[in-house]
Amino acid sequence: MTRPETKILVDGGDPQETRQVKELLGFVDGQTTNPSLIAKNPHIRELVASGHKLSSRDEMDEYKKIVQTISPLVGDAGVSIEVFSDEKTTPQEMFSQGQEMFSWIPNAYIKYPCTAEGLRAAEMSVKQGVRVNITLCFSQQQAAAVYAATKDTKEPAYVSPFVGRLDDIGQSGMDVVKNIKRMFSKGDGHVLVLAASIRSLEHLLYCFVLQTELATVPAQVLEQWASKNFPMPDKQFKYKSPGKPIPYEDLDLERPWETFDIQHELTRKGIEKFAADYRATLSRPA
Ligand code: G3P
Repeated sequence: MTRPETKILVDGGDPQETRQVKELLGFVDGQTTNPSLIAKNPHIRELVASGHKLSSRDEMDEYKKIVQTISPLVGDAGVSIEVFSDEKTTPQEMFSQGQEMFSWIPNAYIKYPCTAEGLRAAEMSVKQGVRVNITLCFSQQQAAAVYAATKDTKEPAYVSPFVGRLDDIGQSGMDVVKNIKRMFSKGDGHVLVLAASIRSLEHLLYCFVLQTELATVPAQVLEQWASKNFPMPDKQFKYKSPGKPIPYEDLDLERPWETFDIQHELTRKGIEKFAADYRATLSRPA
């Protein structure tokens, strides 16, 4: 196979699945996890199914074991670990979790949601050398805010635009990726684009065309790519967008992050869903 320049991460929460993908591809550059994916981990499901619900401390310990098993399997794109947050979580609370999680493995990236609280936590994190991945990003303005909030980072910060969830509401999710790449081409390169919520081979191949630095992909899509003998997009490749085009905005990346419009309904819904999936595994509220 021709190894793509885009780094390939497994979007999942099961080390066994990561091993299988690695066997299939011959490499795995990194891994992303989130509360919903961790709730689907086979061991956690077994525990919950046997009536053995977890305390929030148990859940953290299980999450730690999972990422510690995945950590040595992946390359330099690292393992993204997501903090627990809901509408009440403060930046300081997110940051404290982030610091603890960052100590679990040597190659951690801490995922914070693309909200004002999440960006404040990210700002604090990068100042302390904690690598970050800002997740649940659905707009170019949100990505511009990520750029401005992580200016002090010494290592690349990731921003994760969620493609499939924009497609789900009739918009062209890949347009957001394309627009962010174009906007960042005028920047200093400290934020890397990690395309997420990838649902199809077409999404993945278009990421290669757009040269996203990273893409996190469910095992199922990577299996499909392998089953077709790892096709790469040729000059004729044309991405057929399933949704309404999203126009490019000319944004000044040097503005303070608070001046960008970072509200997005899908970010709010995404946090709600992560919190609900996390709570479903717990014996009592976090
Ligand atoms: O990487 C983000 C991903 O886990 C969300 O994907 O398919 O639930 O939108 P999806």
